[in-house]
Amino acid sequence: MNRVYIKTYGCQMNERDSEAVASLLTDRGYSIVPDEHQADVVLLNTCAVRDQAEQKAIGKTGHLAKRKRKDPNFVIGVMGCMAQNRGEELVDRLPDLDLLVGTQKFHRVPEMLDQIIARQKALGPKPSTLIDLASEEGSEETIRDHTEGERQVSAFVSIMQGCNMHCTFCIVPKTRGPERYRSMDSICAEIEELVSKGTREVTLLGQIVNSYGMRQIPFVGGKSPFVQLLERINAIDGLERIRFTSPHPRGFQRDLVEAYGELPKLMPYVHLPLQSGSDRILKAMRRPYTVRRFREIVTQLREVQPEICFSTDIIVGFPGETDEDFAMTRDLFDEIGFDMAFIFKYSPRSGTPSAEEMVDDVPQAVKEARNQELLDILGKHSLRRNQAMQGTIQEVLVEQPARKGEGKFLGRTPGNRKVIFSASERLIGELVPVQITDTSVTTLLGELVLQHV
Ligand code: 5AD
Repeated sequence: MNRVYIKTYGCQMNERDSEAVASLLTDRGYSIVPDEHQADVVLLNTCAVRDQAEQKAIGKTGHLAKRKRKDPNFVIGVMGCMAQNRGEELVDRLPDLDLLVGTQKFHRVPEMLDQIIARQKALGPKPSTLIDLASEEGSEETIRDHTEGERQVSAFVSIMQGCNMHCTFCIVPKTRGPERYRSMDSICAEIEELVSKGTREVTLLGQIVNSYGMRQIPFVGGKSPFVQLLERINAIDGLERIRFTSPHPRGFQRDLVEAYGELPKLMPYVHLPLQSGSDRILKAMRRPYTVRRFREIVTQLREVQPEICFSTDIIVGFPGETDEDFAMTRDLFDEIGFDMAFIFKYSPRSGTPSAEEMVDDVPQAVKEARNQELLDILGKHSLRRNQAMQGTIQEVLVEQPARKGEGKFLGRTPGNRKVIFSASERLIGELVPVQITDTSVTTLLGELVLQHV
């Protein structure tokens, strides 16, 4: 049996795509192994959002190629965003690649691998690369299968593919194509099936989830297609928690704010990418909102759901970002007090407007310093928030055994904080009360509160 190892770079969408590929491969008789050294086939599912992510995957492929020179039947594949972004140029650079698969063709991987392996058997190892980078109508419905066997207490569900925004820094519209939405029926059927196998929490995935269905499904009673979808998912019996990532501030309308008050399964945690706290830079990024509007969304959400936690994405060192622009980002970042944030140093992506038309003029050292300043603020807020939770009792969904510690389990609070506590296997998938006893910057420690029956 052919053994496949899949290494994933980048975002949750990539994780989800890898999982779907793993499931399709298992159906086809391949086995998925947890270590590349046990594998006959290594697939890299890649990211293109920053140069560093691409360089990592390219370096890894070069490394794997050394093994291939010793073992010519070893198969190397590159899938996903970098494959789509760089295309056949990658094969010129990495001639040992057997497989190059774009973001709309994940479902073709098993059949392509079959072909490569059959060819090797018939003709012996011969350098040539099987490539499929085309777009495919309906491919948004192909990210649907989940790994069998292993129970997923918390599962990712892809609701759409692609992005119609034009943020000047971003490569994603090129790598993922225009927006395409799955049908609500198909999404709900997938979730019902997951729930029947023990899933209790879903995280809905899309580049911009709140534009779900926008150009296909009508508003009903003032509610956007995305809120309609949330309502349907909220009604699924046996499902306990709903999360999603990422919404865009532009489409964060009143109906979505109110959903946090109305849908009990919708968890009080929002990942809302800010990118910059300077209106001038937001404009240059072609992000169609202002700082005032961003703040207003945060305030509205806190009114509806006082417990709500926020996380965000920030880019420091965008072309033309002055000390004053950065100071505005820093002050807003501090004012909002994000619970979590992903902070990125601007990285020009070839083919994007900011790379073509603007100069990457913020020195690396300044980017580093700005990055560090925000990380320090984040650490401060995160610690403060965790300390405030000390002694409180949180409702925790028990997900899995913790990596370290006998009898320790990992769960999450509604606000998405990880908690480690002693429990037993039979509580996996249950919502349990846990008293928080200790904290670090990222993780909470707790004790199960015994319930008297
Ligand atoms: N440089 C740095 N960060 C970027 N992001 C997207 N493109 C770039 C880039 N060119 C960040 C944004 C986005 C997150 C997924 O990655 O903050 O929200």
